[in-house]
Amino acid sequence: MTITDIQIAKDTYWVGKIDDREVPFHRLILTKGTTYNSYLLKTGKPTVIDTVDMEFGREYAERVAELIDPLDIAYIVINHTEPDHSGGLAALAMKATNATMVCTEIAVPELQEMYKLHGRNFLAVKDGDTLDIGGKTLLFKETPYLHTAETMITYCVEDQILYPCDIFSTHVAVDKLFSDEAGFDITEDFKGYYSAIIHPHRRYVRTLMEAVKDLEIAMIAPSHGFLIRRDVRKYIDLYAELSRETTQGKKAAIVYTTLKNNTKKMAGILQSTLQENGIEAEVWDADKHELSVILDSIAAADAVFIGSSTRYADMIGNLEPLLKELQHMDLEGKLAAAFGSYGWSGEAIEVIQDYLNGTNMTVQSTSDVIKTTGMTHVEFPIRVRFSPKEAEKTQKIKNAAEFVSDLLLSAI
Ligand SMILES: Cc1cc2nc3c(=O)[nH]c(=O)nc-3n(C[C@H](O)[C@H](O)[C@H](O)COP(=O)(O)O)c2cc1C
Ligand SMILES: [Fe+2]
Ligand SMILES: [Fe+2]
Repeated sequence: MTITDIQIAKDTYWVGKIDDREVPFHRLILTKGTTYNSYLLKTGKPTVIDTVDMEFGREYAERVAELIDPLDIAYIVINHTEPDHSGGLAALAMKATNATMVCTEIAVPELQEMYKLHGRNFLAVKDGDTLDIGGKTLLFKETPYLHTAETMITYCVEDQILYPCDIFSTHVAVDKLFSDEAGFDITEDFKGYYSAIIHPHRRYVRTLMEAVKDLEIAMIAPSHGFLIRRDVRKYIDLYAELSRETTQGKKAAIVYTTLKNNTKKMAGILQSTLQENGIEAEVWDADKHELSVILDSIAAADAVFIGSSTRYADMIGNLEPLLKELQHMDLEGKLAAAFGSYGWSGEAIEVIQDYLNGTNMTVQSTSDVIKTTGMTHVEFPIRVRFSPKEAEKTQKIKNAAEFVSDLLLSAI
C-alpha cells in the first residue's frame, strides 16, 4: 500500500511508514497492521515530528532526504521515546547533523542512551513551552503516562493541528490518511486502540483533557493509523467518556499484623488512598479482631490487602489461621495484594503472596503489571523497608493502591 497525497497542511507532509503485516506489538497481534506516522514541517526552521519504527529507520531517513536536505532540519520533536516512534531517530539524526532533538526532560537520557546521541543538541521542553520554527509555532503539553512517563503532545498553533503520538491513534494499516476517507466508521478501531494502550493509564486522561481543553483543534495527526479532521471533538470526548469512573460502591478489606506499627502505617496509607478514590476500605488488625468478623469483611470486599512485618524470616501474629481459611473460600473475582514492612529480607510478604496464590483471587504481581500495562512505578507485593514515612515509600504504597482503585473503577 502507498499513500500518494502526503501533504496534510501548508508546508506539512506525512513521512510515515505503513506496516500492513500482522504486527506483534505489546503482546498483541495487530491484525489490521498499523502505521508509524511521522511529519515534516518545511518551515523556516524545518522540523520533523516523531519518526517511525526502528525496523524501517534507514528507508525512512532516505525518504525524508528526498523531501528536504537533512542538513537543513533544525528540530526533531520526539513526543514519546518508544522505538515504534523514536526508532527512525538513529538513522535520521545521522544525516540531520544540525538538528536539535526536542523532548521532555525525562526523555533526554533515554534517547541519548538508546541512540547514542550524547554529543548532540537537545532541547528539553516543559508543559506549556512554545517553539518558533520559522512561520509556525509549536506548543508542547506534557501528558505523563499516556502511556509512558516521558510522553508529551505537540500542537501547531497556526495550523491548529494536534500531534499526540500514541494518543488518539488507531492500529490500522491505512491506505487513506484521513478517517473521513476510510470508507468505514473507524470508531471501533479507535475504541479498541484506547482499550489496549490507553485505558490502563486512564487516570492520566484527565491531564490530557485539561491539556486539550482550550485548544482549537482542526485536525488530530497521531502516530498510528488515521488522521482525524472531521468530528474531532467526538473522538476527544470518547476518551473522556471511556476513561470516566462510574462504578460506585466498591469495597476493600485491609488486614495486617505488626510489631511496631510500621505495617499498620502502611495499612493506613492504603486505606486513605483507596478512600480518596471513592472506595470504602475497612482495616483490621488480625491480632485484635475476631477471625469471623475479618472473614465477613473479606467476603464483602472487591479487593483484599493482607500484610505482615517479618520477624525471624516469618509472618508475625495471628495471620496464618486467616490465610489458611481463605484457601477454602470462594473469592472469585476479587483482587488481592500482599504487603508488609521489613528490615532486610521480608520473607513474611512472600509467604502471604504464596497463600494468596492458593486462593482463587486475582493476585497482583509486578510482572503482571508490567506485562499488562508496561508500568514500572507500580510494584506488588508492596514491600517497604522499616518505616513507610519517607515520601518515596509512601508514594510506592499510594501507587499500588491507585492501581487497584483503577482496576476496580473501570467503566469498561
Ligand atoms: C526480633 C526481630 C526480628 C526481625 N527479623 C527480621 C527478618 O528476619 N527479616 C526482615 O526482613 N526483617 C526482620 N526484622 C525487621 C522488621 O521486620 C522491621 O523492623 C519492620 O519494619 C517491622 O515492622 P512492624 O512495625 O510492622 O512490625 C526483625 C525485627 C525484629 C525486632
Ligand atoms: Fe507507545
Ligand atoms: Fe506507538
